[in-house]
Amino acid sequence: MIRVESAHDQVNVAKVYEANQEQVFQYWDELGVEERRRLLAQIATIDFQEFRRLAGHITQTESDDEEGSSLLRPAEMIPLATTPLQLQERARARAAGVESLRNGEVGIFLVAGGQGTRLGFEGPKGCFPLLPISGATLFQHFAEKILALKRLYKKSMPWFIMTSQANDEETRSFFRSNRNFGLPTSDIYFQPQAMLPVIDPRYGKILMASKSELLLSPNGHGGSIRVMQESRDTLEKYGTKFLFYHQVDNPLVEMADPVFLGYHILRDSQFSSKAVAKQVPEEKVGLFCLDGETTRVVEYSEIGEVEQNEREEDGRLTFRAGNIACHVVSTEFVAPDDSAEPFVMPYHIARKAVTFLRDGEEVTGTDPNSVRFESFIFDVLPRTRNPVVLEADRAREFAPVKNAEGADSPASSRQALISLWAEWLEAAGIEVPRDENGQPKNRIEISPLVADSQEQLTAALEEWDLDPSKTIHLR
Ligand code: UD1
Repeated sequence: MIRVESAHDQVNVAKVYEANQEQVFQYWDELGVEERRRLLAQIATIDFQEFRRLAGHITQTESDDEEGSSLLRPAEMIPLATTPLQLQERARARAAGVESLRNGEVGIFLVAGGQGTRLGFEGPKGCFPLLPISGATLFQHFAEKILALKRLYKKSMPWFIMTSQANDEETRSFFRSNRNFGLPTSDIYFQPQAMLPVIDPRYGKILMASKSELLLSPNGHGGSIRVMQESRDTLEKYGTKFLFYHQVDNPLVEMADPVFLGYHILRDSQFSSKAVAKQVPEEKVGLFCLDGETTRVVEYSEIGEVEQNEREEDGRLTFRAGNIACHVVSTEFVAPDDSAEPFVMPYHIARKAVTFLRDGEEVTGTDPNSVRFESFIFDVLPRTRNPVVLEADRAREFAPVKNAEGADSPASSRQALISLWAEWLEAAGIEVPRDENGQPKNRIEISPLVADSQEQLTAALEEWDLDPSKTIHLR
């Protein structure tokens, strides 16, 4: 066993040996003092108990994941309201949501710990300059939505931002240099999610990124559950009963939507979700399904071929409740009190091609050569009371930025924002010039600080004199 000075380090080194991972010290003799310190500091952040459980069950986890979808039915989804009865229920839900917001019972939880590899953007995805005219970033857009909510409901609102080790410092400094976009520092809670080692699946051994660094990856957005649990005191301080959870990639998110909150409250749910109708079988969205009596999300990579393609008589996909990763979570469920058993998330495994160090040489894989562990927030579903799935209008609420080009790209997301704002302007009686495809001819941008809904825009426009034949930029 390698020799270290402090008792704290000795304990951590012992954990490594107990987990049969002593190869991580393979280069110990070559390391300088600072490098050794860094390696030990990194090791200290790992939950080896959890790691051992996971690494020991790779095969088990894989067969669980592949168990497939033989007994699945589509989950029940509250459809978009069209009938008078549905509209009435929706109005009741809105009233309940508004009351909760006015009582200051709602906090915001943003997951922004992902690595955003598909977009090919260096840096945290929230720093991506997305807005069509100002080039404002996703973070700024969300911050303005929160500022608008605070103004509307006259309550302070905690904003939890889950980062990861890879982007925590950059995210914090981005907020600092932008003065939190006008939000008080005391209401923003950055919290890096836990990291887990990436392993070589053949031997179950932790891979090294360099001689003094383990190869780690964030533990998936399910890591947010632990962050919520650890934020119990803050939640209590604010009197937060509900967390509105959303992803960093969707600028169309209807932040703290009172209707959504209201359904959650009226149906006494602990975990609610929004879904949009999946359009084509190949679309990469998880699907809300009923597995026996239990609601769960089946990931796009895990859905069976039959379920993926099955259609109703009217041609719509049978399994179509597509997850847009927007949830309301009751804090009494996720962070009850000290005495409650901590909630342990199940893990999925992902095989990826990575670069790592083997016998002092860098090995770069093109085929998957590693296994990492990720937990998904929606895996809490089977444990929650009365899960609600509410249908959302895709054009108004879902335009994620995932890829550099094509579908779900910055271009398609900007187009969706412009279309939504054009619709609001038209509803307020402004004639928006459109091209032969029906798309708005000019660029449009409306800051949430001016209006974050059609009704707010109609009211705000009383004070503006717009020339609709030009670019419209309201801020
Ligand atoms: C995700 C959902 C999918 C849903 C789609 C909607 C999963 C497995 N799938 O897919 O069901 O239909 O979004 O857009 O989630 N994140 C972290 N930490 C992590 C990993 C991710 O904070 O360790 C955050 C990211 O910053 C991002 C979000 O989680 O905000 C989504 O992650 P991503 O891996 O891009 O999910 P998708 O595969 O697109």
